[in-house]
Amino acid sequence: MISKQLAEALNTQMNFEFDSANLYLSMSAFAEGKNYPGAAHWFRKQVHEEQEHAMKMYKYLVSVGEKVTIKGMPDPETEFAGYVDLFKKALEHERIVTSRINNLIEIAQANKDFAANSFLQWFVDEQIEEEENLNNILDRLALTDNSAISIVMMDDRLASR
Ligand SMILES: [Fe+2]
Ligand SMILES: [Fe+2]
Repeated sequence: MISKQLAEALNTQMNFEFDSANLYLSMSAFAEGKNYPGAAHWFRKQVHEEQEHAMKMYKYLVSVGEKVTIKGMPDPETEFAGYVDLFKKALEHERIVTSRINNLIEIAQANKDFAANSFLQWFVDEQIEEEENLNNILDRLALTDNSAISIVMMDDRLASR
């Protein structure tokens, strides 16, 4: 049996994952407008991942007999300083997600909820991947001081995600 505290925290995180999808869709739209089809494609893929993260939590709440409550989304950021800024902001966002997942695990462990603890481990691994992907993109761009040519080459590479 899941505690009310943990069920509410998971429901909040589920909504935050949907917000993340919306933020990445906004980043994709920004990239489209600036003629960066690779980044637009990459962020669109990320939208689907975030929706999957949210749905994993949705299904977990249903499995343990809790009510799922879908909330309204805040307006995502729509303006970014440029190509590199998109990925910097995405990394900042994922770091927030990581700390939120860690916080959920602390609640699960404090409640001795071993099932929720096990369920949340998937997200621990996923957050390593999410941060690594963004760090790789940013490190690669930084190798050439974020030059125009490296941005174009990166954009071609991201198109094949
Ligand atoms: Fe996520
Ligand atoms: Fe991922």
